[in-house]
Amino acid sequence: LPTLKEAYRNFFPVGVAVAPRSLTGPEAELIRQQFNSLTPENAMKMGPIHPEENRYFWQDADAIVAFAQQNNFKVRGHTLCWHNQTPRWFFTDAQGNQVSREVLLSRLKQHINDVMGRYKGKIYAWDVVNEAVPDTGTGIYRRSKFYEIIGEDYIEKAFEYAHAADPGATLFYNDYNTENASKRERIFQLLKKLKNKGVPIQGVGLQGHWSIYEPTVGELETSIKQFASLGLQVQITELDVSVHPKEHERRAKKPTDTSELTPDMVVKQAAQYKMLFDTFRKHKGTLTGVTFWNISDKTTWLDNFPVAGRKDYPLLFDQNYQPKEAFKSVVTF
Ligand code: XIL
Repeated sequence: LPTLKEAYRNFFPVGVAVAPRSLTGPEAELIRQQFNSLTPENAMKMGPIHPEENRYFWQDADAIVAFAQQNNFKVRGHTLCWHNQTPRWFFTDAQGNQVSREVLLSRLKQHINDVMGRYKGKIYAWDVVNEAVPDTGTGIYRRSKFYEIIGEDYIEKAFEYAHAADPGATLFYNDYNTENASKRERIFQLLKKLKNKGVPIQGVGLQGHWSIYEPTVGELETSIKQFASLGLQVQITELDVSVHPKEHERRAKKPTDTSELTPDMVVKQAAQYKMLFDTFRKHKGTLTGVTFWNISDKTTWLDNFPVAGRKDYPLLFDQNYQPKEAFKSVVTF
């Protein structure tokens, strides 16, 4: 069988989200063999990389970028402005009071400048703003601290700062549940507004935290086509295919099934992955990258989300780093 990067050489880079500890040993071997793009899973988020106002922690992000350079990988930067994993100091002054719009904007600008500046020319694409649209309701804007303190233009400001910091980088808006009809429409409205205003945004990232039950091919194609109609490129930025009924659980906040991987799940997962990559290839040119969120079923963030204590098996390699049925269905076409 070909490797992922061989099979998709003429289509798009195939990436994987990593922590620095994966850059040695058997995981590094698998990464070098199969992939040609990296995303830091956590290392470039505000909290980890910018723990205090005048202190950055570069070590982990540096290690990932160095590995990429040594092995000829592309890097996707993730992420510059998000309501999660952002330290409290960002929004408060020395007395613990909430900062003004001006202060928060200047902190955001400084942060984007410093992080993008350090890796200028080494990171080809950035998730500038992550998850700014709420899952439910009619509104376009999630009521985050950025929104509350700055107002809706925090999004365009972030893109402007990012474009100024590295004009060569491709700038993305990134979100999940992008195949849900209502959320898709509200994300579309946001992106249309940004494009109409001339905001420097070139792409939309569909996170792709999917499952063996969702999305359908129709839902996925509608999203790709609708976002592409704005002249944006589309990337799948955080792909995994849970074997559990996710939407249902997210609402219930408790597991509805066990940790066992059944033969039926294996078959359904291979079919779902085949459908996804058939669709990605069909949209070659528009679809400019696919990144998996973690390397193998040995460690996946879904073991702790949306509930902890139940194992998931969402990736193409098993807990012993061996290719699964789903891998075969992706590399043979
Ligand atoms: C996740 C990481 O995988 C976890 O290690 C961390 O504890 C929480 O964040 N959407 C995103 C990613 O944009 O940054 C998230 O990553 C998964 C959901």
